[in-house]
Amino acid sequence: MAKVNITIDRIRKEDVSHVLGIIRGLPEWFILNAVAEIKEAAKRLPGFVARVGDVVRGFIILEERECCVEIAWLAVEKGFQGRGLGTLLLRAAESYACSKGKPVLTVKTYGGMDYEPYLETLAFYKKKGFKLYEVVEEYKPFNGQPAAILIKTLDCRKPFE
Ligand SMILES: CC(C)(COP(=O)(O)OP(=O)(O)OC[C@H]1O[C@@H](n2cnc3c(N)ncnc32)[C@H](O)[C@@H]1OP(=O)(O)O)[C@@H](O)C(=O)NCCC(=O)NCCS
Repeated sequence: MAKVNITIDRIRKEDVSHVLGIIRGLPEWFILNAVAEIKEAAKRLPGFVARVGDVVRGFIILEERECCVEIAWLAVEKGFQGRGLGTLLLRAAESYACSKGKPVLTVKTYGGMDYEPYLETLAFYKKKGFKLYEVVEEYKPFNGQPAAILIKTLDCRKPFE
């Protein structure tokens, strides 16, 4: 697929409505509850947006933990997937984690191995160097559904382009 001209910026208040629009366009991945949670998270937590031209087409929201930095939310608008936005957002997250002296990224994602959209999500994370730590079969914050916990150890000595 054609590469596009992408810029990555810190997420700002005025980006939140675009972020929520992206989530509403991905019903295979995000239930409606997620909209309210992401609205709150986008205001409270650090994160980045990927713009194509002037328009926000993807975002990542991060949560700093004692051990590491967790990817709380990540999404790219459907028509812009597969063009490198997710990779650049991950790179921004890696750079952020290193800047905090925490060379480990984690993410919890749906861990049922029977649902194609999230198998694609898992494939994306694995391609980007994440390893499966554990599948929690009945994970309460996911309403008792399975969660896959993935981890990536970062080499913070490498420069981030
Ligand atoms: C997962 C997601 C963020 C990836 O972003 P993206 O912009 O599409 O990813 P990229 O274009 O940077 O692709 C990165 C790599 O992953 C691979 N990849 C992307 N989508 C993939 C898929 N569906 N299946 C397998 N591999 C995939 C690409 O081939 C690419 O490989 P390369 O680096 O060798 O070229 C995006 O597809 C998305 O928003 N998915 C729906 C929501 C979601 O899953 N969010 C995460 C919830 S935890």
